[in-house]
Parts: sequence; C-alpha cells; structure tokens
Amino acid sequence: MDRFSDKVVLVTGAASGIGRATAERLASEGASLALSDVNADGLEETATACRAEGVDVLAQVGNVGDEASVADIVRSCVDHFGRLDVLVNVAGILQFKDLRETTLDDWNRIISVNLTGTFLMCREAMPHLLNSGGNIVNTASTAALAGHPWTVSYSASKGGVFALTQTIAVEFGKQGVRCNSVAPGSVLTPIQQAFDLPEGADPKLVYRIMALDKQRGPETVASSIAFLASDDAAHVNGTCLKVDGGTLA
Ligand SMILES: NC(=O)c1ccc[n+]([C@@H]2O[C@H](COP(=O)([O-])OP(=O)(O)OC[C@H]3O[C@@H](n4cnc5c(N)ncnc54)[C@H](O)[C@@H]3O)[C@@H](O)[C@H]2O)c1
Repeated sequence: MDRFSDKVVLVTGAASGIGRATAERLASEGASLALSDVNADGLEETATACRAEGVDVLAQVGNVGDEASVADIVRSCVDHFGRLDVLVNVAGILQFKDLRETTLDDWNRIISVNLTGTFLMCREAMPHLLNSGGNIVNTASTAALAGHPWTVSYSASKGGVFALTQTIAVEFGKQGVRCNSVAPGSVLTPIQQAFDLPEGADPKLVYRIMALDKQRGPETVASSIAFLASDDAAHVNGTCLKVDGGTLA
C-alpha cells in the first residue's frame, strides 16, 4: 500500500509507543513526515527508522502544551514541505491516582498535554488543512467512553478529546476537513510504566482497564490511525474508533 505517497503528515508524540508505530507505518506507506516530541533522543530514533523507508522526515523537539512551541511545530512543517495534509495528535501522559489525592497540579499537567495540546495543534494546523482538504486523527482512549478508576484527570482529558473531535468534524466537515479519533484500550507501550496503582486498589477494578484478550502492541493502533488518515476513510468524519479487542463491547 502506498496511500500517503503524496501526503505530508505531522505526528506528535512520535518518540515512543503509538506515535512511533504510527510514524513508521505512515513512512512504510510513503508519507513525508513532520515528527515532534519532547523526547529528543526517542524522536531521533523514530526519524532514523522512518528515513530508512526512503521518505523525507523533519524531526522537531516541541511541547504540545506550549502555545509558542505548537506554532513553531506547525510553521516549520509548512516551511519545510510547503503543505500539511494530515495532523495526527498522539502526544499524551497518564497518571493513576485516587481522586482524593489528585492535586490541582496533577490535573493541570495532564489536561495541558492531553487536551490543551490537542486543541492547540488542531487550531494551528486548521488553516493549512483547509488549504489541502486534509484531515485530523486524535488519540482519545477507552477511558473517554467508560469509567476507568484512578484516572480522573486522564479520563476527563480524553473525554475532552472525544468531544473536541466531534465538534471539529461538524464545524469543518462541509469545508472538506475530516476529524476522527481512535480510542485505544490497553496497549503495551512505555506509558504503561505509569501503571502505579493506588495502594489497596480493587483487583476487579484493575481488570476493567485491561484488555479482555492479551494486550497488543502499538502497531494495532497505528494501522487504525493510518486507515482514518487515508482516503480509504474519505466518508468517515466525527468517528471515534475503538481499538480495544472488544473490551468495551
Ligand atoms: N498505551 C495505552 O494503553 C494507551 C491507551 C489509550 C490511549 N493511549 C494514548 O495514546 C497516546 C500515546 O501513548 P503511548 O501509549 O504511545 O505512550 P508513550 O509514553 O509511549 O508515548 C507518549 C509520547 O508523548 C510524548 N509527550 C509527552 N508529553 C508531551 C508533550 N508535552 N509534548 C510533546 N510530546 C509529549 C512522550 O515523550 C512520548 O513520546 C497517548 O495520548 C495516550 O494517552 C494509550
């Protein structure tokens, strides 16, 4: 498949996990890539792997929670490639904490990356996506769709991503820009290292946030992101695609 050979795709959170797997999948399908992350070393590893596919890669260290940094990320992409066809927002952070111990700082930190970061990237990219008739794929979570214990900030941030995606889909669909999201269940990536549950956590509730079958790798989410970003999904707009092995079925 070569669905992205004439496309420029910007991926945030590209240094690791789902973002890296998505960048590699898109590179294998011919995309020119603007990759961004706060983690410079991981970003360079992803960029090297993608360049090995023979595609042009611009790697830029940047923080999606920072307005000036987001403006830089998008401007550099358009300066380098002359256009932007697809924005994939993957950057995110996770924390498990009892509601009663969640500080305002915890809340603000998670909302700032997961929700504000997605908002800022969508806002900054939209004029360029309107020019190209492009699309956005955001990363929500099954935590946006059903109660996941000990993740009040994270779940709220992902619920926001779910709603923001539908809003953009309706606001810009008629102007030719689609906006969809994926909702992964439990995927084996470094973010799982934050899997430090509160003391005395109920094992039955732990099961609620794990996949029904064995956990899968990030490539299972990357392939769904690639589908939504491609012309194969030309009539798919405002959808949240669950990628959870049926956990929430
Ligand atoms: N792994 C799962 O089980 C799972 C489930 C549902 C949703 N998700 C979502 O998928 C996305 C990717 O997660 P992952 O599992 O690949 O985790 P990961 O930790 O491997 O990747 C997240 C990436 O985001 C980057 N990042 C963090 N803060 C950033 C910031 N301020 N600006 C730019 N980049 C930043 C990190 O450096 C990292 O490279 C996240 O949005 C996460 O919430 C993951």
